[in-house]
Amino acid sequence: MHTFIWGTATAAYQIEGAADEDGRGPSIWDTFSHEPGRVRDGHTGDVACDHYHRWPQDVALLAELGVDAYRFSIAWPRVLPEGTGAVNPKGLDFYERLVDALLEAGIAPVPTLYHWDLPQALEDRGGWLNRDTAGYFADYVAVVAERLSDRVSRWITLNEPFVHMVQGYALGVHAPGRALMLDALPVAHHQLLGHGLAVRALRAAGAPEVWIANNCSPARPASPSSEADRAAAEAYATLHNWLFNDPLFLGTYPDLPSGLSPGSSSGEPSFGVTLGCVRDGDLDVIATPIDGLGVNYYNPTLLAAPCPDDVLPFDIVPLTGYPTTAFGWPVVPDGLRELLVALKERYGAALPPVYVTENGCSQPDVPGQDGVVDDQARIAFLDGHIAALDRARAEGVDVRGYFVWSLLDNFEWAEGYHQRFGLVHVDFATQRRTPKASFHWFRERIST
Ligand code: BGC
Ligand code: BGC
Repeated sequence: MHTFIWGTATAAYQIEGAADEDGRGPSIWDTFSHEPGRVRDGHTGDVACDHYHRWPQDVALLAELGVDAYRFSIAWPRVLPEGTGAVNPKGLDFYERLVDALLEAGIAPVPTLYHWDLPQALEDRGGWLNRDTAGYFADYVAVVAERLSDRVSRWITLNEPFVHMVQGYALGVHAPGRALMLDALPVAHHQLLGHGLAVRALRAAGAPEVWIANNCSPARPASPSSEADRAAAEAYATLHNWLFNDPLFLGTYPDLPSGLSPGSSSGEPSFGVTLGCVRDGDLDVIATPIDGLGVNYYNPTLLAAPCPDDVLPFDIVPLTGYPTTAFGWPVVPDGLRELLVALKERYGAALPPVYVTENGCSQPDVPGQDGVVDDQARIAFLDGHIAALDRARAEGVDVRGYFVWSLLDNFEWAEGYHQRFGLVHVDFATQRRTPKASFHWFRERIST
């Protein structure tokens, strides 16, 4: 039996602050958040949770929580301010201190090497639309691995390449704010290629375990008896789930449904065939074996057949009848079981051990007069999802870990500081941290 890993997760731009300290270069999120109208109320990550200075306190909170592991991300622009070339030693020093403090506290560090904060200098060269970015990513990964691979045994390459492509490059609601719709699809391939090259760089540095963190969503047809709705759900699942997992575990891209081909509305058979950017040998690199699939799960997606003038081959419709989070997302714990079982069914023996690398919810957390944040809805959310995970294990899915998103209330991307996901409440005016009721509940839950 493998020991089950309990953890919590954060990301660099969402918590660190210290945006231009100690030689850090600008990232696409610095640029984006400073553009008027991009982030709600003009919030930025300039200060965030000030974790860059307050990390000892945050490590102490993790120790009090009693987690086995902590998933955080390393900011590429702290390590390589220009994205490539000169290394900033102070950037590496920061993560080395953090890793050492975690190990000292008996907590396994699980760094994610890319959580959406591309160095702006690389965006200026085309960002993830530029194939060279994949190679620059692997070079950066090699620099980090050289410093930390003697102490870090589990690494995550990318966070949610699907969400980064869709929000950042297709819709433009996240950095870098490009609204290319289907012409954003090369961003999928270049990120996956970067992942495969990074796996090889990590292996070369002796890293024992490499994972990726993919956002996945079970796609449900609005009307299960409608063939058109079922086709729409499958089209959506292809884009959201299979496009980012098939090449890792099957070594091929899925056939894209009609209507999902870049630059054409007629439909072409396969992503790989359609896309000029896929070269010979790329899929071998992308399919380099990994040791874990990180799954970030928030909610299922409900799909109906598209209207005649729709660009995409599906219509996303509201999933009603469930409680909702402060974000308005439906709370559907069994969707996690459904998703994990679907991954197992699709990939069989090719599926590596699975880790839920993110799961959690935003709630309108306000400290009471006594200072207590009594977030019962978050406790119910976590309890329900952990139970669903247990059901997936009972159905034979090899799930080996669960990380709550997030340790701290933090900069929630386009929502700024308006959505609170933390087990720990942060007062952004004073930086005061207050563990919520869910923190105490999670500590009890994992100690048994
Ligand atoms: C991201 C996190 C984000 C969370 C909640 C995930 O898509 O990886 O950075 O804060 O969802 O929206
Ligand atoms: C509240 C917002 C507030 C933000 C920053 C959120 O939880 O809903 O009204 O502006 O936190 O403190």
